[in-house]
Amino acid sequence: MEVHRETASVAQLEADALVVGVFSDSHLEGPVAAINQSSGGLIGRLIDQGEISGKADDVTMLWSVSGVAAPLCVVVGLGQRAAWGRGACFRAAATAAGKLAARPRDRVSFYLADALTPEVVAAGVAGAMVGCRGQDLYRAQAKRHPFAQIGWLADDGPALESGAILGRAVNLTRRLVNEPPQSIYTASFAAEAEKIAHDVGLECEIWDEKRLQDERMGALTAVGRGSSRPPRLVLLRHRGGPQNAAPLVLVGKGITFDSGGLSIKSNDSMKTMKCDMAGAATVLGALQAIARLKLPLNVVGMMGLAENMPGSAAMKLGDVLTARNGRTIEVLNTDAEGRLVLADVLSLAVDQGAAAIVDLATLTGACLVALGTDVAGLMTSDQDWCDQVRTAADICGERCWQLPMFAEYDELIRSDVADIKNSTGIRWGGAITAAKFLAQFVGDVPWTHIDIAGPAFLDHEKPWIDGGASGCFVRTLVEIARRYTPRQDH
Ligand code: BES
Ligand code: MN
Ligand code: ZN
Repeated sequence: MEVHRETASVAQLEADALVVGVFSDSHLEGPVAAINQSSGGLIGRLIDQGEISGKADDVTMLWSVSGVAAPLCVVVGLGQRAAWGRGACFRAAATAAGKLAARPRDRVSFYLADALTPEVVAAGVAGAMVGCRGQDLYRAQAKRHPFAQIGWLADDGPALESGAILGRAVNLTRRLVNEPPQSIYTASFAAEAEKIAHDVGLECEIWDEKRLQDERMGALTAVGRGSSRPPRLVLLRHRGGPQNAAPLVLVGKGITFDSGGLSIKSNDSMKTMKCDMAGAATVLGALQAIARLKLPLNVVGMMGLAENMPGSAAMKLGDVLTARNGRTIEVLNTDAEGRLVLADVLSLAVDQGAAAIVDLATLTGACLVALGTDVAGLMTSDQDWCDQVRTAADICGERCWQLPMFAEYDELIRSDVADIKNSTGIRWGGAITAAKFLAQFVGDVPWTHIDIAGPAFLDHEKPWIDGGASGCFVRTLVEIARRYTPRQDH
């Protein structure tokens, strides 16, 4: 998909389709007002008749509008003016793009509104790219046809460039998650990461099972033991800051398939478990964008990759594992594997001198029970850092909500035979007890955990995105990196 800047006046624009926007609570203005005028008041009449509402997700397709050069004109709702921002623009552009992508189209141009900030334009461009791409990777007859060219009305180029970078990163994450587990497994994920690193100028290290063992990563390697696909760790480094500045570390859970292991899942809960590497894919997408945007800071991405299978060498209930930081872990449920992988990767982040850590993981079904499918859970060891993460998510329009980390939960992860156990044996508070487990491995480093078990993978399409992988939190991670300011020592 090529992204270019449009400068032509809206009525004269030569494109296969033109997208204009209407707010639900304000007069026609900007490009849509110009279209209204050239067409002798058509848009106004449709609003009066209740055909066009301006509400979010509302799309109206108009063919052969008189006075408009483009053969197809799409009017998309922008929602309430007060709620306008990056999230709303992403969603409006993606909704229109999704409708238009039902047929192949060469050039689609977006004139949603004028006088948008560069950040809102970038979010819109990213939305257009995400909306026109589907999960139909292996269908002879695609349901969505990505546009060859996306045009956007803008005063300058850089906003479009960053939008294209964000859109490509989100779609990269979505593709990796949507790929079946037979093609994305530990080694092939690592190979994809290496190729991307090479393309965008990130340093890349891949640790194989032998190196992982030598590095004392006894919890991560235990998870991989039941599979014929050995585990991997991918380390990506973006050096945009001063040489000795401590890095921001982004950690991702990369279970390329979660069968549950010996504590095997039911068919129903297993069928979407190719999505269990979404945390790692999100980190990879974010690092690709951070490198291409040349952000002026040091960032390290760490992806812990394993396939959780019940092979004959699989870890067993009652096994005691020793994590990299020396903590011993009693395994009471092999389906609580994500926290085992993250335990070692978080320890490594601490050892490598992280200034602050964010981890992303499709960690618990309990987070879905707590917050539903559309909202990620935030848990932290450091309120200040969590606030920065939440601010970035809010600005991008990605939904998350903080859960408490009260001391009352600590006793639930204590074990009689080891330091801690990987499953409490009770369902209540499962998203939080998982985070309490992770907190054992982050030392004093400010750390925020994002449980994306709900929003990472959609079981139906939404007005603005196809079903399957959502690519959620790629944009938020990039925004966290953009806004990151090292803490002053006091
Ligand atoms: N990958 C799952 C969590 C998950 C569930 C992600 C639904 C996406 C959608 C995780 O490894 C898991 O199985 N968690 C268990 C933990 C339990 C055994 C303590 C769960 O949530 O049931
Ligand atoms: Mn599991
Ligand atoms: Zn899992």
